[in-house]
Amino acid sequence: MSKVDIGRARSLSIKCLSEISWHDNARMRQDVREAGGLGVDQFDVKWTPENAAGVSSLIESVDGGGRPRKFLMDVGWDVGYMDGIFRREGVDRMLAAGEIDFLYITHEHVDHLWGLPAAVKHRPDVKILLPSGFSEKSRGVIRESGHTGKVMELGPGAPHILFPGCASVTFDIPIFLKTHGEQALYFHVEGRGMVTVTGCCHNGVLGLLEYAQETFDGFSEFHGVYGGLHISPFEEWGPDQEEVLDKLQAFRLQRLACNHCTGVLTVQKMLERGMPVVRGSGKHGSKSELYLGNGDSVVF
Ligand SMILES: [Fe+2]
Ligand SMILES: [Fe+2]
Repeated sequence: MSKVDIGRARSLSIKCLSEISWHDNARMRQDVREAGGLGVDQFDVKWTPENAAGVSSLIESVDGGGRPRKFLMDVGWDVGYMDGIFRREGVDRMLAAGEIDFLYITHEHVDHLWGLPAAVKHRPDVKILLPSGFSEKSRGVIRESGHTGKVMELGPGAPHILFPGCASVTFDIPIFLKTHGEQALYFHVEGRGMVTVTGCCHNGVLGLLEYAQETFDGFSEFHGVYGGLHISPFEEWGPDQEEVLDKLQAFRLQRLACNHCTGVLTVQKMLERGMPVVRGSGKHGSKSELYLGNGDSVVF
């Protein structure tokens, strides 16, 4: 396959609206265990309602043609929690004013999708982009959210260029809790290099970067990553995680703005290695100021 040039984005900035899926890890693991473990359907787990939070980011870019672009990546879980987040960050007003071009849903996990009503109530006809492979029940979440706009399903295979400098790739993979498929973003930022943007990265950060090497043309450097990297979501560490960091380090990224399921322990190990982690403020419920958390922004 010949390589793809996705063009250039003139700028890219990302605000982490919320990167915490739930408040208490132990509670969440107990809910999953009681339902039968990670192989069960997420719709069959009796989730503890007061434990739910959610993951969502605001992405702003000026594309290669000079046009400003603004969209949400994921919409969180608990609708009440997400209402508060969207209000705090002014996203409610942006949606109502039609300033948000689309909602980009990385995958169908509960903590990334079920907060949809909190977003669509401000703009029912906003376009939704999701990866192909959603279950019928997840489609039901969208249907019942009050959404009236277009739903675009992006399939695996060739990358989808969303606008000059930004591509979306669907990874056709099974994921735990009986879900399927995850899409990730690649930005080629003028004067910087390639930046990957992910929700959970269940396909693995190394595969994500290798995909770019094999597929995209015209870039010489990896500049950064943003989002969940799924290295140690439950703060466990061993040779496998060390190996991921060994290989990740070899990509010589300039900025690691990782959060969510990356794991605090992972971030500490990255810092011990001198890797360029983008720090945060530790506010609004994020666990540490060592990484980019709730309400923090990064400019790539
Ligand atoms: Fe997640
Ligand atoms: Fe996930």
